[in-house]
Amino acid sequence: MTTRILGIESSCDETAAAVVADGREILSSVVASQVEIHRKYGGVVPELASREHLRHIVPVVREALERAGLRLEDIDAIGVTRGPGLVGALLVGLTYGKVLAQALGKPLVAVNHLEGHVHAVLLEAYRAGNAQPEFPAVCLIVSGGHTQLYHVEASPASGDSVALQLRYRKLGGTRDDAAGEAYDKVAKLLALGYPGGPIIDQLASSHRRGQGSGGGFGPRTGTAPRFGPTKLRGNPFDFSFSGIKTAVLYFLRDHAEFAPGIAARKAALREGKRSAAELAQLCDAQTLDLIAAFQITVVRDLVGRTLAAARETAARSVLVSGGVAANSELRAAFDLAAAKDGLRVFMPSRALSTDNAAMIAAAAYPRLMAGERAGEDLDAEAVLPLV
Ligand code: KG4
Ligand code: ZN
Repeated sequence: MTTRILGIESSCDETAAAVVADGREILSSVVASQVEIHRKYGGVVPELASREHLRHIVPVVREALERAGLRLEDIDAIGVTRGPGLVGALLVGLTYGKVLAQALGKPLVAVNHLEGHVHAVLLEAYRAGNAQPEFPAVCLIVSGGHTQLYHVEASPASGDSVALQLRYRKLGGTRDDAAGEAYDKVAKLLALGYPGGPIIDQLASSHRRGQGSGGGFGPRTGTAPRFGPTKLRGNPFDFSFSGIKTAVLYFLRDHAEFAPGIAARKAALREGKRSAAELAQLCDAQTLDLIAAFQITVVRDLVGRTLAAARETAARSVLVSGGVAANSELRAAFDLAAAKDGLRVFMPSRALSTDNAAMIAAAAYPRLMAGERAGEDLDAEAVLPLV
């Protein structure tokens, strides 16, 4: 018998609902993005996020059911994100999920958003008809809100991976900004619009291609800063991205020649011109060098620490998930480096990398099967460790 779980996600700025069958088959996945609302502020404004979730939650759930060709009564359980995230945002999805479960008399399973990102990787492997990752694995969750490394073990170690019970040990995390946050802040400094990740990715990639650089990455002109690797005392699997953001800030302050380009791009953004092609025309070679230097520094840091963690823990796979996992240079660098180390790297498609509810429904499935049920006292948690 098929078990259909309705997943609900509202931890940040995406209102999402999805129906997933048996933890592996996506019957529908609907995401209402709030990016247009937050764009003018250059980041997510928590109260606006909560209000938008309230506007979207009912239609988004309705659409997820319609696309799956199901009615509410056909759902076997509801999986809802409990945290970590913005409490006011989480409460919208969580309360709606709770009320639906009670009204329908169906089980409710609380899901850690980070575990959802891990399951996005497993869902993608099913979707693509690929082999599932082998465990133990190292998982890098890298988004606008998170940059964390986990060691993931599974029991049973092989067999029906859908019923896999996963256990997590945190290896490290960012001590300040998340990697996606650094992308967004640097994009703001350079007047590249919001969110910064996709545009920096496109500009840096086209810059490299344009140079016909024979595969070389990074800065080409003498003026671009050479950001050093972030040196951290203590845990080698921790990250820090506030330093590079500050380095870009000081570099721009000390190099007045960047100011006219920034002013021109600000004007273009005000006119609604924000495509990579439009902004690329307003970026000189020095600016593109700076963007490429920023990106390669972040990518090397993410890849270097993740692979070092994989080696140290004798991991058999590397999983990479979260919005920044969509980055083309990160994907290429992981593939290249992992091939050298004989590791297999698993990354979701873009749609499953960024926040969605299919990953929440998928993460709820093994917990539902293990008999987990959320109580009436279920509450939203801004901080929620993954264990
Ligand atoms: O997972 P996500 O949708 O939301 C959370 O933060 O949870 O991730 C959004 C973040 C933003 O910071 C965005 O700039 C970044 O992911 N991002 C990227 C790319 N696409 C999105 N960063 C680098 N390269 C990309 N292609
Ligand atoms: Zn996320």
